[in-house]
Amino acid sequence: MKPIEIHKSKESELQAIAMLEAACFHDPWPLEQVVYEWKENPTANLYSAVIDDEVVGYIDFFITFDSASIARICVANEYRRNGIAKALIDKMVEVCKKQEEPIDNITLEVRESNEAAIKLYEKNGFEYITRKKMYYSDGEDAIYMVRCII
Ligand SMILES: CC(C)(COP(=O)(O)OP(=O)(O)OC[C@H]1O[C@@H](n2cnc3c(N)ncnc32)[C@H](O)[C@@H]1OP(=O)(O)O)[C@@H](O)C(=O)NCCC(=O)NCCS
Repeated sequence: MKPIEIHKSKESELQAIAMLEAACFHDPWPLEQVVYEWKENPTANLYSAVIDDEVVGYIDFFITFDSASIARICVANEYRRNGIAKALIDKMVEVCKKQEEPIDNITLEVRESNEAAIKLYEKNGFEYITRKKMYYSDGEDAIYMVRCII
């Protein structure tokens, strides 16, 4: 595979990110939400994974004081199982470690049916903490996971 570049998402990439959202999620964020995250959400951090000028994945994570959480992460279907999501998580950890206020851990919620994502998180140091009943609007439970980053 050609080299992946991970960088802070650019305004010119937001449309491509919204298209990834539509292709990767059952409940995709529309372009307006992606733009809001990038432009207005002060806690949001968007990073793109780019191969040959094509946005093939992205992560949106929140940092609030001493805590961090993954809001979205996805990789285009044809680029999966190449370590791109891992590279995006590594970037998040790197950014968290550089914060003035130390961040102890990263949290996330994932649909209990999302085996690929749960495997990804387990492989990257996240541990099961608890189940959040009926967390999603369609009634599905969330698995709450945490990774210590000290
Ligand atoms: C989950 C997702 C982001 C993984 O992206 P990816 O780039 O394929 O992940 P990586 O290549 O970094 O995978 C790293 C490891 O995670 C695990 N993993 C990832 N996808 C997996 C799958 N479909 N089945 C089993 N394990 C999987 C494996 O252990 C993998 O290592 P390996 O390939 O050496 O076996 C991608 O499948 C996706 O975009 N899914 C739809 C969006 C989504 O569900 N996002 C998460 C919401 S919480």
